[in-house]
Amino acid sequence: MSKLTGSKKATQFTESVIREMTRISELYDSVNLSQGFPDFSAPAEVKAAAIAAIQNDVNQYAVTWGARPLREAVAREFTRRYGVEVVPDEQVTVCCGSTEAMMSTMMGLIDPGDEVVVFEPFYENYGPDAILSGATPRYVTLHEPDWIFDPDELAGAFNNKTRAIIINTPNNPTGKVFSRAELETIAALCRKWDAVAISDEIYEHILYDGHTHVPIASIEGMADRTVTINGLSKTYSVTGWRVGWTISPRSLTGAIRKVHDFLTVGAAAPLQEAGVAALGVDDAYYAELARSYQRRRDTLLDILQRHHFTCYRPQGAYYIMTDIAGFGFGDDVEFARYLVTEVGVAAVPGSSFYRNAQLGRTKLRFCFCKKDETLAEADRRMAKLAVKA
Ligand SMILES: Cc1ncc(COP(=O)(O)O)c(C=O)c1O
Repeated sequence: MSKLTGSKKATQFTESVIREMTRISELYDSVNLSQGFPDFSAPAEVKAAAIAAIQNDVNQYAVTWGARPLREAVAREFTRRYGVEVVPDEQVTVCCGSTEAMMSTMMGLIDPGDEVVVFEPFYENYGPDAILSGATPRYVTLHEPDWIFDPDELAGAFNNKTRAIIINTPNNPTGKVFSRAELETIAALCRKWDAVAISDEIYEHILYDGHTHVPIASIEGMADRTVTINGLSKTYSVTGWRVGWTISPRSLTGAIRKVHDFLTVGAAAPLQEAGVAALGVDDAYYAELARSYQRRRDTLLDILQRHHFTCYRPQGAYYIMTDIAGFGFGDDVEFARYLVTEVGVAAVPGSSFYRNAQLGRTKLRFCFCKKDETLAEADRRMAKLAVKA
């Protein structure tokens, strides 16, 4: 066999469907409601801090595991909000986005053959993360309409080989916010099987209808077995900056930092400095962020429902999962292709969030981190939507 091919690992997963939809969307000049990035401005004071950092020559490598002021700000905010003590020098590692934070964590903690429990539908990066780290994923389904899991099914997914569980709350793609009771159930299993919780909390501040965010690290006995992952991307509308971090127990920080160092050396130094300004904004900013996203959510829900999508109302994050069975298309991929090429709106086929593509066959995910005019244009274009007989 020719050696001029990709590795076995690289052939086990496909290109990101979400990022591919963005490329197709550009090709057809569609309204892009697929990939989750805002089309509006980042906060002026955060942008000004980045410009000032470059002008002030913060342009060389930062400390590999993150500039101290940013690590201190991350620790300070987590402790202030959730009462969990975090020592910046021993527990915070700044990475190139939460994407790299998740990869460094998985590669740092997982050995080939270890099992990792993953809820599905899942954010699509977790599949390749598991493959590249050698983990064997064990999937547990979140069932619509409320995206709840069956506690017995979850308990059945844990065993002696379980090294970790990946949690994402508020959740992409479902909009679910895990309740304290659900997190207690997960925590009890982590303690029973000596497993680590890897918790992606990147939508921490994007919450609706009075829902509150509970980090699993704040649950009794969990601070010592949780890696919390977060970043600047979603909270401050700077997805292109690529600044994220892990908060880990001391026993795991060294492994994460070593992998991080050899993968990337470090995140962009001036943008880390701007991150300090970002984390220093007052709480009114976060309240307004949630309010403005709730308004956008309601706008897109109204649009989609008028155009006959069945919608699952999100409690947090900035996506709406829909059911498209009523349109009569063969599957989600066929419908998404029709929508982007003929209607001019891009969304993500539901099957890309499931290991078993069948479970996503009638689903489609839209994002609403967009200007009012962008959503209004999607509304106008969807007037063309056809229902197949
Ligand atoms: C659940 C989740 N985690 C991580 C990311 C990526 O975050 P970052 O830009 O910090 O790499 C996304 C982006 O859509 C996401 O939805």
